[in-house]
Amino acid sequence: MTSHSAWPSHGGQASVLLDRFGLPAIQPLVDFSTNLNPLGPPDWLGDAIAGAMAGLARYPDPDYRAAREAIARQEGVDPNQILLTNGGAEAIFLAAGLQARGRAVIMEPSFSEYARACAAHGLAVTSLRLTPPAFDLDPARLDSPLRRADILFLCRPNNPTGTLLPWPAMESLLDAARQQGVTVVVDEAFIDFVDEPGEALTPLLAHFDNLILLRSLTKLYTLPGLRLGYLLADVQTVRRLKAGQPPWSVNHLSAELVAPLLGDGDFLDRTHAWLRGERPRLQAGLQSLGLEVVPSRVNFFLVRQSSGPSAGDALLGRLLQAGILARHTHNFPGLDGGWVRLALRGPAENDRLLLALAAREES
Ligand SMILES: Cc1ncc(COP(=O)(O)O)c(C=O)c1O
Repeated sequence: MTSHSAWPSHGGQASVLLDRFGLPAIQPLVDFSTNLNPLGPPDWLGDAIAGAMAGLARYPDPDYRAAREAIARQEGVDPNQILLTNGGAEAIFLAAGLQARGRAVIMEPSFSEYARACAAHGLAVTSLRLTPPAFDLDPARLDSPLRRADILFLCRPNNPTGTLLPWPAMESLLDAARQQGVTVVVDEAFIDFVDEPGEALTPLLAHFDNLILLRSLTKLYTLPGLRLGYLLADVQTVRRLKAGQPPWSVNHLSAELVAPLLGDGDFLDRTHAWLRGERPRLQAGLQSLGLEVVPSRVNFFLVRQSSGPSAGDALLGRLLQAGILARHTHNFPGLDGGWVRLALRGPAENDRLLLALAAREES
């Protein structure tokens, strides 16, 4: 590696990664580094945006009533349990703000924005490490961190591992947290990619007022530029969170798209059909090339070639030279660059990835 520039903070930052590897701009790169649905955005989106343009001349409803009612119908909760947010990212920062200058536990390796949000709100952070290769949670290890926390952040399904903490483990965790007065923030940004029904924790909101669920419409509908998400919690908590949110944080076009996006059942069915076909195929293909693959419940895989940070970098560099952008893991505590995250794409692109990896084997 010839450059000493920084690692990109998120997926999709091709120029930063190329610079890091001292490589010239390569066109075109296939992006396996962002966990976006290759089937989206839905094809009716442009017309819906055009139809909503006239509304840009007015302020949005500050309470986003129509959008919250659409979400409430879908989730089976009271509209007052919902706060519309400027992407899942804003929801993370609002949740951290609830316990400003308090103590947080972050289950890691996981999405880097929990730590950034905690730092922004002056929280002291302790990390609770999930260890490879299973990245599962031993409930016995929770007692002592919970005793020293005000808020716990975890991601389910987890980015970057693709694993899903089992429902019974979540119930015991929420119970233990409630006894210690700890708020539990569960980021469900990828929950729609789990094709077995009933895995979202929404029904637990009725039993645990210490639970906050975060959602994003970014990943499923391929809309990272739109900035649309929401959170679910008990009514009092939502009221407190809203008090910390800037007014009109969600723009009119985003708010107008909530109901039609959630109502597009056909898009979700097609997404699940793609996942059922491509996920086992890519997993088998990667394993047959000698890569260790963490079994995933969603639309990306965490893989490694062998242990040690340089193995991850070597894999990233070779893929870049083959025109493929993968996600490094240097900013995921506990992975430290030894692993690489690969998104699941369409069949032709997945084949291209496997071919590039096979060429790596032969050279
Ligand atoms: C786990 C997780 N939560 C939240 C987000 C942020 O989502 P959004 O783009 O809706 O802000 C991401 C984006 O990568 C993510 O991976």
